[in-house]
Amino acid sequence: MILMKAKITHTYGNNLVHVYDSAANLKMAATELIAQQAVEMVARQSRFSIALSGGSTPVGVYQGLISDKWLKRFPWEQTQFVFGDERYVPADDAMSNYKMAMDAFLQAAPVSDANIYPVPTHCEHPDDCAEIYERTLREALHTKDNSEIPVIDLVLLGMGDDGHTASLFPDTEILTESASAVAAVYVDKLDSWRISLTFPTINNASQVVVLVAGENKAAVLREVFTTQTKKYPIQSLDNPNGVVWLVDQSAASQLD
Ligand code: 6PG
Repeated sequence: MILMKAKITHTYGNNLVHVYDSAANLKMAATELIAQQAVEMVARQSRFSIALSGGSTPVGVYQGLISDKWLKRFPWEQTQFVFGDERYVPADDAMSNYKMAMDAFLQAAPVSDANIYPVPTHCEHPDDCAEIYERTLREALHTKDNSEIPVIDLVLLGMGDDGHTASLFPDTEILTESASAVAAVYVDKLDSWRISLTFPTINNASQVVVLVAGENKAAVLREVFTTQTKKYPIQSLDNPNGVVWLVDQSAASQLD
């Protein structure tokens, strides 16, 4: 894979950290990575699944996928779009990750609704919706090695300035979930429910890519790679295929 030239690349254990000189270049590189991976996986296995991340950083990445360069080249019909996490709000709510992705690119892309798998958020209890989504992923995707955990080809993640990723927030029970592929979690600090892939699912993916931009993430990012103790949820990323980080130089300003 020929990634847009990073300013520098750090290696911390299983983590490959590409640093870009601006958030704009980080996003362009992320678009390239996703699109190239999709083309390669479809050529190899006739399908590609991606778990989309919420947050603000990915918006520009998603918009790049419907740019002139990729709109006609991206394998839309062979790609399954699932979600790494979702806020427990209606699909048309401004906070919805599904709405963000539809607005950013899915609405404009030549992709059928059958290839988009929103997280249900209308159950009596969020746990019920988490179970439904887990079943949906199991039916839509494949599993491996007799595991019940679905295999996602590429899980795209972000990182909060508290070291959360997806909806895996500090001091929440979901961090130690070891059986379910998807779980609901009440996040006290947000006073709201979320539904998220669990670490067993994320660490079972073929590829994990984390996007981090902004000075406010720099201190946490340094600790993520330099402290032995698992102080932050994102330090529980432990994918045997490694983790690729695309960061801007602001977020990387405390890395050496
Ligand atoms: C969400 C995301 C969340 C996000 C981080 C970083 O639903 O909000 O899944 O984990 O990736 O909070 O968000 P930014 O990209 O906005 O910094």
